[in-house]
Amino acid sequence: MIVPVILSGGSGTRLWPVSTSAAPKQFQPLIGEVSLFRQTLDRVADRTRFAAPLVVCGPGHVAPVEADLAAAGIADARVIVEPAARNTAPAIALAARACGPDSLLLVMPADHVMTDVTAFLRAIDTARPAVEAGAIATFGIAPSHPETGYGYIAAGEAHPDAPGVHSVRRFVEKPPRERAEAMLAEGGHYWNAGIFLMRADHFLTELERQQPAMAAACTAAMTDARHDGGRVHPDTDAFLRSPADSIDYAVMEGADRVVVAPVEPGWSDVGGWAALHALGTKDDAGNVRIGDVVTLDAERNYLRADGGKRIAVVGVSDLIVVTHGDDILVIPRERAQEVKAIVEYLAAHP
Ligand code: GDD
Ligand code: MG
Repeated sequence: MIVPVILSGGSGTRLWPVSTSAAPKQFQPLIGEVSLFRQTLDRVADRTRFAAPLVVCGPGHVAPVEADLAAAGIADARVIVEPAARNTAPAIALAARACGPDSLLLVMPADHVMTDVTAFLRAIDTARPAVEAGAIATFGIAPSHPETGYGYIAAGEAHPDAPGVHSVRRFVEKPPRERAEAMLAEGGHYWNAGIFLMRADHFLTELERQQPAMAAACTAAMTDARHDGGRVHPDTDAFLRSPADSIDYAVMEGADRVVVAPVEPGWSDVGGWAALHALGTKDDAGNVRIGDVVTLDAERNYLRADGGKRIAVVGVSDLIVVTHGDDILVIPRERAQEVKAIVEYLAAHP
């Protein structure tokens, strides 16, 4: 059985005003009827393949996590409550320590969209023999542009024991623009989907080799963890001694045995409002309309009216307009990433 490990610690500031640190994007029904976290749970709901999920999140998000678990009818999940955010490598280390050494962990972000779950499950089956033989598996998405917010995977030779899987020559996290362009031009590179399949003991061995302080802090935090029903509270003092870093920088760039299973699961990491426009159902003029929306001579806009408000636009194109609570966001679609700057400004000027 594979243990789904769902990382739910991010705050998704590029989707303000809907996503805030108190109510981040993974708990919002940004696309579809249910939250992105719930969609993640549903993807790994088949109990003939997957064990009960293990969720890693901060204390502020236990309530929405448990509400979604209850709504999904899952009563046997475990929730590791991080005393503080230390990024993904320590979060995964806690999860690995909570499982038996030979457990297979499927580490997944809580805030992605996938339209073809069957393709995803097939890729997991494809990667599994290589993982059982000691590798950490990544899932590779064919890149469409030189995105600098993703990890890049340089695929090597075909794996001898796992058809469809390649060894990884290099893992490059968030390259500068020129390097991303060069890798795209060279070919043979994939985007890292941010999903990993690994044995708990193999991950911990890599962590001990590359990040001994992090490994020691996370081990101590779990040795002295407090258990409260399905909730696991790692020891605070021990965990706070851990350096903060992502799995991508802390482990994957320097890992010995990495493989990639290429996959096209209709994946998006919902990185901003432009992604939601791309993913959404459009009217004849290319507008995505959510809630009470009126348009006249308007094209290719993303118009989202939450909470009973109405949005009316006339003669505008390629805009994002979002109303949520007391907030209204208006921004050109191509500048949607700059929402992050608004969030920073608002945090500095409360
Ligand atoms: N529990 C916990 N604790 N979860 C965390 C923490 C933490 O401290 N920090 C981040 N997460 C969760 C986020 O909520 C998200 O679901 C996932 O871990 C990945 O973190 P991100 O911060 O979103 O990473 P990223 O998008 O910059 O980069 C990663 O994903 C890309 C694909 O979307 C990398 O793996 C890239 O290589 C990859 O291309
Ligand atoms: Mg992300």
